[in-house]
Amino acid sequence: MKINVNTNENINGTLVLPLWQGSRNMIAGSESGLHRGLKTQIETILHDGDFKAKSGSAMTLAGTEGGKALLIGLGKEDEATLQSMRESGAKVTASLAKIHGKTLTVKFHGMEDAHMGAFVEGMILRDYSYDHYKSKDEDSDDTEITVNVTCEDEKTEVLAKSAELSSAVATGVYLARDLGNAPPNDMYPMAFAEQAREFGREHDNVDVKIINYDEARSLGMGGLVGVGMGSYRKPCIVIFEINPDKPGPSPCIVGKGITFDTGGISIKPSPSMDEMKYDMHGSATTFGVMQALVASGHKDRVIGITCMAENMPSSNAQRPGDVITTYSGKTVEVLNTDAEGRLVLADGLWFAGTELNPSYMIDLATLTGACVVALGHEASGLWSNNDELLNNIKAAGEHCGEIAWPMPLFKAFEKEMTDSKIADVRNLGAGRWGGSNTAAAFLKQFVPNMGDTDEQIPWAHLDIAGTAWGAKTNKMVKTGATGIHVRTLHHLITGQ
Ligand code: BES
Ligand code: ZN
Ligand code: ZN
Repeated sequence: MKINVNTNENINGTLVLPLWQGSRNMIAGSESGLHRGLKTQIETILHDGDFKAKSGSAMTLAGTEGGKALLIGLGKEDEATLQSMRESGAKVTASLAKIHGKTLTVKFHGMEDAHMGAFVEGMILRDYSYDHYKSKDEDSDDTEITVNVTCEDEKTEVLAKSAELSSAVATGVYLARDLGNAPPNDMYPMAFAEQAREFGREHDNVDVKIINYDEARSLGMGGLVGVGMGSYRKPCIVIFEINPDKPGPSPCIVGKGITFDTGGISIKPSPSMDEMKYDMHGSATTFGVMQALVASGHKDRVIGITCMAENMPSSNAQRPGDVITTYSGKTVEVLNTDAEGRLVLADGLWFAGTELNPSYMIDLATLTGACVVALGHEASGLWSNNDELLNNIKAAGEHCGEIAWPMPLFKAFEKEMTDSKIADVRNLGAGRWGGSNTAAAFLKQFVPNMGDTDEQIPWAHLDIAGTAWGAKTNKMVKTGATGIHVRTLHHLITGQ
């Protein structure tokens, strides 16, 4: 989607008119440039109350001599939020049918900068579909949509800047969705790594390093190796570094990258098992954040690390009952091979904390079904050993309409996960209750201390099991991978 912001009075293509609920006429000034016939039609509709402009509503007008129009309901003006505006923008893209063509003119008038910016952002975010594997028919038209956004003269500069930033960050969201949607026969650990390597080659300020299977084995990454060894597609770790020459501790994003989770020997039931291709969305988001930072011109160092493996049952797969030694040196009793995300992250977190000089670490993982039970598809679970980091992530999520909801790291959960009879840590809680909390408590065992202190590196864990793929309530995406938290983390890191 190409966005041009101007005060041009001309209307190109379909007119998109955002309206507050209860509008009985067009806001004075917004009718300029409109063909008389179309203006009369819109005014009649509004006057008669035939379009109430409730939030989430849309009406297409066609067949008049004055051109086509799409009326978009914004809901009540005094109840508008950034997210409601984003959702209205997304409604525009979702409502586009063939008759609207590929050119639109959005007419804003008398609207706040932030509201207009969010509306445009919503239009951009919803403009995504995954059709790489669909054969193209002859009349399929994949020309880019051009949107002319018009507003008052004095507001164009701010709006143009915000649209430019939204477009840049959206390239990261789209990338994360592409990676998440890719079928698991093509998106396996080394395929992800190759794509990352290519990304590194394309950008002077990006370094990408890969720890392959043999290296992971000799480094003693028993968590990653244990999970990935049962698959013909061997596991690996991918390390991204943006602006590697900038000194000092830097934010570090750690992603769970299980390119397919069968459960391993503790095999999952068949229904919906296909969805386990999204079990690498933590790594997809990590890669997406790197792309978003590069596209928006971020100047400071940021690190990303993704723990890639395919969890398969085979004669070489790990068994329930195995004890593995992780990169940290701590041993883990593997009681259920389906609790594999925490095992690969154990190595990723320890490696990041000891080798990559992080100021803080945030891991993202489709970690537990229990998190979906707790929060549904409305929010990611958020755990942290540091209140300031937790509050900053929560605020960034709220700002972006990607809710991250605080969850507890009680000592009792840590105790539950460290009372294995034969190892340091167990990978399964004692019962099934509080399963997302015990998973977080497990991860906490693998966060190193800062330098020589006895204080852990600030760390947060986002369980995105319920938010990583399309739910009806997420208006920014039609279906499939959501690209969740690319925008949250970009906002957290850059303040933009
Ligand atoms: N990838 C799953 C978690 C998951 C479940 C993500 C549903 C998205 C939707 C994870 O590896 C897993 O299988 N977790 C187990 C943990 C259990 C064995 C302690 C789970 O949640 O059942
Ligand atoms: Zn699993
Ligand atoms: Zn998993």
